[in-house]
Amino acid sequence: MSAHRAPAVVLDPEAGLGLSEVELRAPRAGEVEIDVRAAGVCHSDLHVVSGDWPADRPLVLGHEAAGVVRAVGDGVTSVRPGDHVVLSWFAPCRRCRRCAAGQAWLCTGTKAVENTLPDGTTPFTSPDGEERWPYLGLGAFTDRVVVPESAAVKVPDELPFAVGALLGCSVTTGVGAVTHTAGVRPGESAVVIGTGGVGLSVVMGLRLAGADPIVAVDLSAERLAAARAFGATHVLDGREVDVAAWCQDELGGVDYAFEAIGSPRVIETLPGMLTSGGAAVLVGMAAIDATGSFNLFELADQGKRILGCNYGSSVGELDIPMLARLYLAGRLPLDDLIGTTRPLAEAALAFDDLRAGTGLRTVLVP
Ligand SMILES: NC(=O)c1ccc[n+]([C@@H]2O[C@H](COP(=O)([O-])OP(=O)(O)OC[C@H]3O[C@@H](n4cnc5c(N)ncnc54)[C@H](O)[C@@H]3O)[C@@H](O)[C@H]2O)c1
Ligand SMILES: [Zn+2]
Ligand SMILES: [Zn+2]
Repeated sequence: MSAHRAPAVVLDPEAGLGLSEVELRAPRAGEVEIDVRAAGVCHSDLHVVSGDWPADRPLVLGHEAAGVVRAVGDGVTSVRPGDHVVLSWFAPCRRCRRCAAGQAWLCTGTKAVENTLPDGTTPFTSPDGEERWPYLGLGAFTDRVVVPESAAVKVPDELPFAVGALLGCSVTTGVGAVTHTAGVRPGESAVVIGTGGVGLSVVMGLRLAGADPIVAVDLSAERLAAARAFGATHVLDGREVDVAAWCQDELGGVDYAFEAIGSPRVIETLPGMLTSGGAAVLVGMAAIDATGSFNLFELADQGKRILGCNYGSSVGELDIPMLARLYLAGRLPLDDLIGTTRPLAEAALAFDDLRAGTGLRTVLVP
């Protein structure tokens, strides 16, 4: 069978970002071939483009996507051709101790973070046969992908593809940060710093969990207006307000402070926002060598906690269909999270918008 050839958004460590042709091989045992219908542009793609997370090889970007199963390799049982699926970027190995314990988001056997399929190979090559690697094991900024079975999560056919795409990363991460990582209960208070795709999903999760008050902080008036629409009871401009002082003065400290930027300077201010026993939740991802400092006496003395949050402490095959059901039941206004829809060829413009903080979540359509 001849390989499929199509344009893809490739980040080359030397040549930079561009649209180039890639060839995709057929699915092998345990793999699924998917026609991509929509892919969100997440800051975790931008971290690679900007060099926060250095790429050592040419990557097909894109890790927040949805589509339709086209073919399956030997042994695949959970999906079949025609199924609608959301791609889950932390494809769990289903064999390690963390997977066995039901903590797929901490899987130690996944190869996704090495930007390969589970066997260490890539399904993509350039037309002249050079390897092109799938970012986070997916590489969804193209029209067709081959991914491990555990990365393809079946969802209802009536779920719009753009909404499904956002379930692949920002929504599952942001809502999960609230419901799983933090375990927020009704009436608890929270502040969310950074209200992009992930932070707005945290706000939505807080409303779902019944948190109150919900304070949103950003630098963009447009993003803050969206945060209000998604359930924030207070919005603050991070340039103008000392958020820690505000939280202490107005609320006596908050139960939870979510950071959804990845800024060491902002993360360092989180403990100062908390009431005693409160928790800071680190959802934003900093550069790989980033460090920060806290007042250690205060953490111990006041029993404050720092919680890391990978993928919203979510199990894709459980949480993605659950969030899809909540959306279809009208409990999560995910249509309102979608900003501009662009063709793949406009990926560079989408990254410019993300860098500038303009618009809501951009969705690329192949
Ligand atoms: N933990 C995870 O598993 C996970 C998953 C997805 C994304 N992420 C990370 O989450 C972060 C956010 O991703 P995103 O796609 O929502 O990004 P985004 O760029 O859409 O949103 C970031 C927001 O932060 C705001 N901001 C920047 N500096 C600020 C400051 N000093 N004070 C207040 N607001 C500020 C920007 O205006 C923007 O609205 C990124 O670091 C991304 O890599 C983590
Ligand atoms: Zn992401
Ligand atoms: Zn595992």
